[in-house]
Amino acid sequence: MGVFNQLAQVFQNLISNSIKFQAPDKKPKIIISCIPNSQADRKVISVKDNGIGIDEEHFKEIFRPFRKLHARTEYKGSGIGLSICKKIMTRIGGDIAVKSKKSEGAEFLLTFPLAKGVPSET
Ligand SMILES: Nc1ncnc2c1ncn2[C@@H]1O[C@H](COP(=O)(O)OP(=O)(O)OP(=O)(O)O)[C@@H](O)[C@H]1O
Ligand SMILES: [Mg+2]
Repeated sequence: MGVFNQLAQVFQNLISNSIKFQAPDKKPKIIISCIPNSQADRKVISVKDNGIGIDEEHFKEIFRPFRKLHARTEYKGSGIGLSICKKIMTRIGGDIAVKSKKSEGAEFLLTFPLAKGVPSET
């Protein structure tokens, strides 16, 4: 799969998580933005929601394959979306990180390298 399809998959995973993990008492809101003033050789794009949020103690494990914080009966999925995002972002020389507090929404930050570019489509 080419790099552009892989990046589409990253955004697809993040946006579908924001929809899935919406808070029951709030009108769902998803904001995708470019963070200003990031370093000259990289761009940071944020995917932010107002959903159920994630406790800081789980920040590492959500990027591991098959890790879910809830039972599959509560929220569907096998827990691989974010591990694929991590793999793709690392492969292109970027990264993915999370900022969140339980019940206060989640923000995923995608860091893209600019200077070296991305690997060619092979
Ligand atoms: N936007 C979010 N808000 C709250 N929790 C989230 C959010 N995104 C991910 N999580 C938590 O991180 C876990 C891992 O996310 P991931 O996308 O890897 O798995 P999934 O969505 O459960 O399953 P799959 O992506 O395979 O359908 C989720 O199960 C959920 O507990
Ligand atoms: Mg997912």
